[in-house]
Amino acid sequence: MTPNYLETDDARAGRVLFEETCATCHVLFGEGNDLGPDLTGSGRQDTDYVLSNLIGPNATIYEAFRLTTVLTKIGKFFGCFIVHQNDKFLALRMQETRMRVDLSDVAEIHTSNTSMMPEGMLASFNDEQVRDLLRYLASPQQVDRPQVETR
Ligand code: HEC
Repeated sequence: MTPNYLETDDARAGRVLFEETCATCHVLFGEGNDLGPDLTGSGRQDTDYVLSNLIGPNATIYEAFRLTTVLTKIGKFFGCFIVHQNDKFLALRMQETRMRVDLSDVAEIHTSNTSMMPEGMLASFNDEQVRDLLRYLASPQQVDRPQVETR
């Protein structure tokens, strides 16, 4: 993934790869889901940074993105992220909603030590796909999707 090789790019093909494999968890240029961090303002132009995150997602895990299970005293389960916590309540973020749970109602909290981001995603791409993805991630703004051949 040298700069010369990356120059032989197709960032547009990278957009398709991103939409298929990353956008379920990441926003880029305002599109995608916010289960993981928004990548628009991250170090996404930095090849080493992107590759190391793809190779070892568990190296850095942010508190706000740790998958947490909250069990309440009346037996309700929530799979969520804890976005805020004080001595009175937990503020939870779930895929569709946000809610508060009083700490006095909470029986147990389990926090995952592994990233939601799957390991080994890099291995499922060939070199050209990795290049396209890196080029797309590094592009200053949204790019078009590749032209579909029409007759
Ligand atoms: C199942 C959800 C999921 C998928 C799919 C996923 N990621 Fe992630 N990613 C995360 C989470 C969550 C984090 C935050 C770090 C952590 O807690 O593990 C993260 C972190 C990152 C980071 C570091 C962001 C930062 O702010 O430091 C990069 C870069 C990244 N992902 C790129 C990708 C790319 C590229 C793809 C697609 C090939 C991808 N991710 C697919 C969930 C996902």
